Order: sequence, then C-alpha cells, then structure tokens
Amino acid sequence: MLRFLRSAMASLTTPPRVPIPANGVDYRGKVVLAPMVRSGELPSRLIALKYGADLVWGPETIDRAMAGAVRRVNPRNGTIEFTRIPSNGGRTEKAGQESVIYRLDPVREKGKLIYQIGTATPEIAVEAAKLVAGDVAGIDVNSGCPKPFSTSGGMGAALLKTPDKLVAILEALVKEVGTPFQIGISVKIRILKDPEETRALVTRLVKTGITGLTVHCRTPPMRPRERAIRDQVRMIADICHEAGVACVINGDVASKDDGHALMKEFGVDGAMIATAAEANPSCFRTEAEGGLLPWKEVVHEYIKFCLESENRFGNSKYLLNILVPGKLQEGKLAKAARSYADTCHALGFEDLLPLAMHVDDILNLSDKSVTTKDLQAEHTRSKAVQNAMENNESARAAGGASRVKSTSPAVSAGGPIRTNSIPAPTKTIVSEGTVMPEAETQVDVSVPAPEAAPQKQELTA
Ligand SMILES: Cc1cc2nc3c(=O)[nH]c(=O)nc-3n(C[C@H](O)[C@H](O)[C@H](O)COP(=O)(O)O)c2cc1C
Repeated sequence: MLRFLRSAMASLTTPPRVPIPANGVDYRGKVVLAPMVRSGELPSRLIALKYGADLVWGPETIDRAMAGAVRRVNPRNGTIEFTRIPSNGGRTEKAGQESVIYRLDPVREKGKLIYQIGTATPEIAVEAAKLVAGDVAGIDVNSGCPKPFSTSGGMGAALLKTPDKLVAILEALVKEVGTPFQIGISVKIRILKDPEETRALVTRLVKTGITGLTVHCRTPPMRPRERAIRDQVRMIADICHEAGVACVINGDVASKDDGHALMKEFGVDGAMIATAAEANPSCFRTEAEGGLLPWKEVVHEYIKFCLESENRFGNSKYLLNILVPGKLQEGKLAKAARSYADTCHALGFEDLLPLAMHVDDILNLSDKSVTTKDLQAEHTRSKAVQNAMENNESARAAGGASRVKSTSPAVSAGGPIRTNSIPAPTKTIVSEGTVMPEAETQVDVSVPAPEAAPQKQELTA
C-alpha cells in the first residue's frame, strides 16, 4: 500500500517522458551538430563527433530523392551509400549515371546519427525513411527551411502553415517507421511571429508520439545574420516537458559550453549548433578540454576525414573555403586546388599525400592534379637516371664505361611519394566525382541491414 502511494506521488511530481525506443537516442543533455545541406556531409559529422558533438544531424534529404535509392556498402571504407540514377529531366547525355544521395559511417556514427528528411507527403516520407531507418538513431522532419526550393514543394517552413499535414507526417513516421524500427521521430521548427501561434502548433506536435523537438529561434522570414530571439523558448520547453518530449534550442549557440549554459538558462534539454560548427567544428570542445583549435589543425583533420570517406571533392572544397582563411597564401593556393593531392600540397600536409593521391585516383581527379603530374614527371626522370646508372653499372662490370660520378639531384631530391607505390584500385566511373567499384555484384544492396554493419576497412595508401 505504502509502495503504491509512493509511486503514485512520484508520478504526480515527475514529469512524464515519451519512452526512448531501443535503437533510438535521448536528446536530453546533448549538444549536437545541426542539419546543414552541403556543410553537414559525412566528414563534417565525423569531425564534429571527434571534437565532442554528442549527436549529429545529417543534411536535409528530400524524400523523393531518397525513395527508390539503393543501399550498398562501399567495400573500400565500409561506409554505407544510398545511390540512385537521377531521372535527368528527360535529358539523355548523362542518363545512367549514378549519384550518392546519402553516405553514413555505420561504425563511427553508430547511435549518434539523426537523418533529416524534407517532405510534404506522409506516404513518401515513410517510404524514404524506411530505407535508412535501420542505419540511424532517429528521423527528424525539417519544418523550418524557408528557402523557396523547400517551401515551394510544401516542405520545410511551409509545413508551419499547414499543421494538419505536419501532424499527419509525424504520426505516419512514428507509426510506420519509429515503432517497427525502434527509433525516435523528431521535428525541427522555427518560432512563429505570434507566440500564441507557436504555442498552438507545438501543443499539437508534441502529441504525435515524437521524442524530440528542436526550435530554431528565428521566424521564417528572418535572415541567418539576424540575432536569434529567445523569448518564446521557455514556453516551448514547458509544453514539450508536459508531454514528455525533449526540447532542443537552436540559433546562435556558439559552443558546447554555451549550449550547456543555455540549457540551464532556458530549461531546455539540449542545444544545436550550425554556423559556429561550420566555421570551426572544434567549438564542440569545452574550455576545460582546451576550447577552439587553430584552423590548420582542424583542416588537417577535416581533410583526413574527407579522404577516408571518399567525399566528393567539390563538397570538401566548399567547406574548406569556409575553414581556411582565404587571405593567406596557402589558403589561396588551396582554393585553386583541383584535387585532394593539390590541396594537401598547398597546405603542407605532405603526410596525407599518399592517401590523397589514392583517393584522387578513385574519384578520377588524378588527371586534374598538378601535384600528381609533377610527382609522376619526377618519378619518370628518376627512373631514367636509375636506368642510366644500371646500364653504366653493367657496362663497367663488362669492362666498359666508368661509374656515374655523384648522386643526381633528380634521385636525391625526390618527394615523399613514389606513384608506383600507390595501389591502383580498379574502378568504373559512374558520375562526376563518384566511382563505382567494378565488383558491383558483390556489393550489399539489401535494405536495410543495420545489424550486419560491415567491418570498417581503413584506407591505406
Ligand atoms: C549551410 C547551411 C545549411 C543548412 N541546412 C539545413 C538543413 O538541411 N536542414 C535544416 O533544418 N536546417 C538547415 N540549416 C539551418 C541550421 O540547421 C540552423 O537551424 C541555423 O543555421 C541556425 O543555427 P545557427 O544560428 O547555429 O547557425 C542550414 C544552415 C546552414 C548555415
């Protein structure tokens, strides 16, 4: 009787909590990397995790792009790639070329990756989410993007004006993806100008079965440079807590320490960082851990992750343009680079050159690489000198010409790379920057097969 009374009392005082599914993750107490199209690809997520991000959101991926994709394991590095052949809008010149829609690391992102979906239709959202649900810890619905490419299709911030549709999407995802796959479903919204409208919306959203709600503290028309407005946060957090849903604050969160301070100040459960992490992902290191690292150290790590992920070079360059100070000479050279080898050379990362040349080869960038051409020319020159020496040696042994006098600069001044020491992977080019292994039939295309996470194969040069 006493025990019953105690538990009844406890349930009156303890706020309810939506249960976290077995393969899901609780957003409480976490400082996380925000979803960012272009800036949130696999290497950015891996570096954020390395520096201390508790969870990482992938870039918004439109449901129609994902639905119909094929899941496969990249045999060289163990990453999981979702690929498809674009419809191409009727054009034929590039027909048949495959593109990677989404790439994740089943080992290093295990239990930490939230897949963000762009959608305006419950059925397509479910179809797309099912493909990836076995490989991620949660699915998040983007209901905050104000860009026309999103809103024109009724997605992103447009969903804030069609709450019935947004609720239907979340309920469908909870029932048909969250429950069977045992992962959490969440939503990311912006505040509305009228706090009462925000209140009405959030009150409906938290009843859909979601486990988390992120609030970007800007209204849809606000530009990224405008200061985040935080006067609705406490109200939103209270509504979330009454329903047992975790509330994550976003907008001008500068660092992990700042995220924790905001959790305390506004009573929210988690904090999400976008632009500060884009500029320097070491913002996830606390002051106690040493805080922000110098750009060069960060960029070295970032390039390493790009190489290990075989990240599309154009995408890596996009973020490098943000990470590397453009005013420095090495920054200018890095910006002009057309291959990973050139980038490493420009930045003085000679230790990464063998791997860079290997990945350039896989991504079909070697032909564009000045560094590779220089090294190959040097190699050819030194080979010629070596041949000449050997010929001379044989001639001398046979009583002919005398020995070559001294070591040629072409032999002694060689760089750290010998192109003939770089394994040449067999490959078939399928699209710009994307390469398919020749043994495609051996590639795992089962969807989904999360438990059968592949062994990670580290790339070696
Ligand atoms: C390059 C970039 C891409 C973004 N892409 C997405 C996205 O895919 N999905 C999304 O919900 N928000 C996206 N956002 C918005 C951020 O997730 C975040 O809500 C916003 O930048 C505010 O956070 P901040 O003040 O820390 O930058 C993007 C922001 C940036 C800068």
